[in-house]
Amino acid sequence: MRKYLLGALMLTAIIILSACSSSSGTKVEDIKNNGKIVVATESEFAPFEFKTLINGKDELVGADIELAKAIGDKLGVEVEFSVMSFNNVLASLQSGKADIAIAGISVTDERKNIYDFSDSYYESENVVIIKKTNLNTYTSISSLSKQSIGAQKGSIQETTAKDQFQDSSIVSLTSNGEMINELKSGQLQAVVLEKAIAEGYIAQNDDLTLANFSLKSDGTDAYAVAVSKGSDELLEQINQVITEVKSSGKFDQWLAKASTYTQVDSSDDSSE
Ligand code: ARG
Repeated sequence: MRKYLLGALMLTAIIILSACSSSSGTKVEDIKNNGKIVVATESEFAPFEFKTLINGKDELVGADIELAKAIGDKLGVEVEFSVMSFNNVLASLQSGKADIAIAGISVTDERKNIYDFSDSYYESENVVIIKKTNLNTYTSISSLSKQSIGAQKGSIQETTAKDQFQDSSIVSLTSNGEMINELKSGQLQAVVLEKAIAEGYIAQNDDLTLANFSLKSDGTDAYAVAVSKGSDELLEQINQVITEVKSSGKFDQWLAKASTYTQVDSSDDSSE
């Protein structure tokens, strides 16, 4: 009788233990066994991740894409990109659909409650983009009161816009390309984006410009790779890659290379 009881107890302990270990983060070993790492990303965020035409075919390019490939190389596995709307990127870690997320994701205290982050690999800041013809009209936050301001759904810019443009109407859109189109057509009067992204759009649209006023800074805005909580060994590997590509200048080269590509509109297929 005692033997059975002991056996049952041990069995229960084993079940509990294995349940715990499978829920505590993504294991490097599992990734290696699968032979691939699934990377959640988005595709309208040049120069970090976007689509361009190469030999007549849409290809996912950008500095984050290169970073993901370097992580794949480090682990000796293939990289499978899972492209989705930005507002689904982090959640895909929780549901186990992706192993890591790389999408110009800013580290925030709120996000840190739910996910773990690598060391940061890029520093960013928010800017306001408007039509050139409105440069002398929209000269301050208050000059945009009662106007419509765009920000990407699920991004920190959405929160910043809501906090700082309290008398404006904030329109959250899934696609940055669509937001830019609405700005050009006059449905939106301003859009809040991060500087490098805004500059990319301005370079391709000579009717757009940066507004002459700045937003209040909400502290540092740094991009990092996100993983599910408890993926410590995986984070260690990712951090080694980040240290290497930053110190060797590779990350900057990837950014420079990315800015030579033209972003193609992918708003149709990023609305998952
Ligand atoms: N850095 C901002 C954030 O984390 C925006 C990122 C948007 N990324 C993208 N691929 N659209 O909220």
